[in-house]
Amino acid sequence: MCGIIGYIGKREATPILINGLKRMEYRGYDSAGIAVLHNGNINITKVSGKIAQLTERLNGLTLNGSVGLGHTRWATHGEPNETNAHPHTDCSGSIVLIHNGIIENYYTIRVKLAASGHIFRTQTDSEVLAHLIEELYEGDIEQAVRSALSKVKGTYGIAVMHHDEPEKLIAARMGSPLVLGLGAAENFIASDLAAVVDHTRNVIYLNDGEMAVVTSDGVIQTKLDKSPVSAKVEQIFFNIAEIEKGGYPHFMLKEIHEQPNSLTDSIRGRLLPEAGASKLGGLANFEEQLAAVKRFIILGCGTSWHAGLIGEYLIEELAGIPVEVEYASEFRYREPIIEPGTITLSISQSGETIDTLAAMREAKVRGALTLGICNVVGSTIARESEGGVYIHAGPEIGVASTKAFTSQVAVLTLLALHLGRQRGRISLDRGQELTQELINLPKKVQQVLDNSDRILELAKKYVDSKNALYLSRGINYPVALEGALKLKEISYIHAEGYPAAEMKHGPIALIDENMPVVFIAVNGGAIYEKVISNIEEVRARKGVIIAVVNEGDQVITRYADHILEIPLTDHILSPILAVIPLQLLAYHIAVLRGCNVDQPRNLAKSVTVE
Ligand code: AGP
Repeated sequence: MCGIIGYIGKREATPILINGLKRMEYRGYDSAGIAVLHNGNINITKVSGKIAQLTERLNGLTLNGSVGLGHTRWATHGEPNETNAHPHTDCSGSIVLIHNGIIENYYTIRVKLAASGHIFRTQTDSEVLAHLIEELYEGDIEQAVRSALSKVKGTYGIAVMHHDEPEKLIAARMGSPLVLGLGAAENFIASDLAAVVDHTRNVIYLNDGEMAVVTSDGVIQTKLDKSPVSAKVEQIFFNIAEIEKGGYPHFMLKEIHEQPNSLTDSIRGRLLPEAGASKLGGLANFEEQLAAVKRFIILGCGTSWHAGLIGEYLIEELAGIPVEVEYASEFRYREPIIEPGTITLSISQSGETIDTLAAMREAKVRGALTLGICNVVGSTIARESEGGVYIHAGPEIGVASTKAFTSQVAVLTLLALHLGRQRGRISLDRGQELTQELINLPKKVQQVLDNSDRILELAKKYVDSKNALYLSRGINYPVALEGALKLKEISYIHAEGYPAAEMKHGPIALIDENMPVVFIAVNGGAIYEKVISNIEEVRARKGVIIAVVNEGDQVITRYADHILEIPLTDHILSPILAVIPLQLLAYHIAVLRGCNVDQPRNLAKSVTVE
């Protein structure tokens, strides 16, 4: 996703802008650029490619100036090239703009402006906004931006400067995150906390429909209609070390190995072992609604949607409450039926996924109570939902979500436990059993990680696979989907997850000696027996069987070509352990294939455009 950094203060802007863009590289981008204002002149340098190329281009150039804007672009309108890279300017080069989001009515505006003589240099929607501001500029850049934004439809996070007004930057947001960093005689605009955390921990989150005039002395925050907004200064807690790789070759591997700690953090202070219960502070104001809830609708995308599917099993089994899980992108364009007593749970690591945000807004309009389960504090979904629970997994930099997934599932487990105990559906004994097992879980995750050397060997055997199937049943069926997503999104091997029983309805036609089939076959019980017969079906067709099983399993080992063992745990907690070998298998295969594990092609960490 695009990254925005703006600086105004006393220091040279260029190194601050470049460093800020580097801190946001993980978001995925295809071009980068900066603009620096000095003595009424604006210097713009931009490249199609990575920040390293931008730095190379800047070598030797002295971009003096202590006011500037920087941007990394993930193309939405117009191909990824130098021309379409931001910053963009108006005809005269007096106005400079950087933009995240999509201006939906850019084309009609462009036609009108072209008719009145504006010359466009790029194919982007963003450049149109720069020309619209120019058209409306009458000596006050703040007013011109205000007027221009009142004419656009769509989403934006923008930062704007005018060479005749060097003492100010203008920020505005609608649907694309922006944060203001407050320093000493210097201030920042950014789309991501990571870009400012080197300089300040004091931030203001802009809300949708708000603008800010940012000078080196301070910030004036208003709504688009100029009505004042009282600034709420918040503190950033995570530090750069958490953002850095910590000695691992990739953020993804670091985050896989962080899971004992991230799970501990997700659970911390939320268990009542004696009472066999859990408590979620963020939902304290909604106890009445939770007690009366008739249905949950879980909204999410990708991995978060997979976590939601596990949430369905958890809440229906532990609390006996109906749950439906929806792809947010589908929900928002349907005519969803929201009856009284409906609560939506919007699950999003970034808290900025536009489809999930839009679906949540749609549900709110239709009368649902909207709760969020997010990782990024202060993210839009977290702030726009009426309440919710932070998963506290810490910054997740790798595009492929790992620790956020297990923490999402942990929080959903805490919610299901809370609801089940509140409704008397879970006995004290069962509740105490679950709370104790949750306390033990991080240690068991560590055990899986400690015994993961064989996974690299396994990865070497299947590094050249063209396809893979992931199968399971019950609460681990979503883990099959997640394992397949991990493999396909970072190694580019085609992989699909299915309920194991679906085999005979089609996928079994794919089985041959070249098809690795990963089964999650943990914990005994009726489903376990059924999975064994599915394994036999694959074996009979010469499929290669890789099975995730409980330590000491004596049955599956007889059928499988490869075994990945996890410690025994309560069956409803097994997804958190079962997914880890699959995360590692995908990671090692992707590394062996020379893929860009942390920034896979075509993907972004947070999809804030449709
Ligand atoms: C997961 O590995 C992917 N990066 C992607 O599917 C991701 O889960 C999805 O885009 C949702 O992101 P969110 O959790 O930030 O909303």
